Amino acid sequence: MYLNVFNGYEDDEINEILSKINFEEKKDLYIKLFKKTFGVNSELLPTLEEINIISKTDIKNFLFKSIYNQNSFTVLNHEFLLKIVEIIKINNFKKVVELGSGTSIFSKWLNVYLKKDNFEVDVIALDKHEEDYFDIKNFFFETKNYDAIKHMNEFQEKDILYILGWPSLDTPFAFNVLNNLKFNNKILYIGEQKGGCTADDKFFDNLKNFKILEIKNYKSFTCIHDQPYLISKNKED
Ligand SMILES: C[S@@+](CC[C@H](N)C(=O)[O-])C[C@H]1O[C@@H](n2cnc3c(N)ncnc32)[C@H](O)[C@@H]1O
Repeated sequence: MYLNVFNGYEDDEINEILSKINFEEKKDLYIKLFKKTFGVNSELLPTLEEINIISKTDIKNFLFKSIYNQNSFTVLNHEFLLKIVEIIKINNFKKVVELGSGTSIFSKWLNVYLKKDNFEVDVIALDKHEEDYFDIKNFFFETKNYDAIKHMNEFQEKDILYILGWPSLDTPFAFNVLNNLKFNNKILYIGEQKGGCTADDKFFDNLKNFKILEIKNYKSFTCIHDQPYLISKNKED
């Protein structure tokens, strides 16, 4: 377990981090968005509308995108998290396990939104950290240093929602997660389509054997084409 959970950046730290960027426009909105997502004092995520305004101009601000990605590959917004809580309720999931959670910022916010709703669901984050994507210094949520596939096989429970955000495309990680999915459990995949920057080809080829539901209320930055999908096994499997 990685202890010392990081509660978020202080305002002056954020100003310092983002001071390297020569914003051409909407500087205040960029800073607000970063503070709401990664700031220590934030109680709610930025809205979809705030992300939308930025996503139209951020092509000029690639540096912002790369600093954001050091903390999260998935762009988090308020309406999207409300939607995930609704999905958890409708499906009666008893547990959420984020696989390959990176900084575990998604788990942190999911836990916040579930608690706001007084909804009791365990959230677990794990990452094996074998890949050299980034040198993670800050974990926003308690994170188990463990292999995702081992976990799926050792804890064969029902009614689990697995979060699989931005799995790497150069390893069979996403394919193995899909292959180990049990009936009654589902995967929330957040990533690009085949040929994009996430998951290997075998993952997409195998998807035809699963039920896929596209989830709305999500928006990424310009030139990024990720989208959330809820994946489940067909009944006859
Ligand atoms: C591109 S990062 C995405 C991180 C995070 N989900 C996000 O959206 O910001 C992929 C992560 O998957 C992790 N990973 C890859 N294979 C794994 C495995 N078998 N078990 C657990 N984590 C794994 C890597 O260490 C890395 O942190």
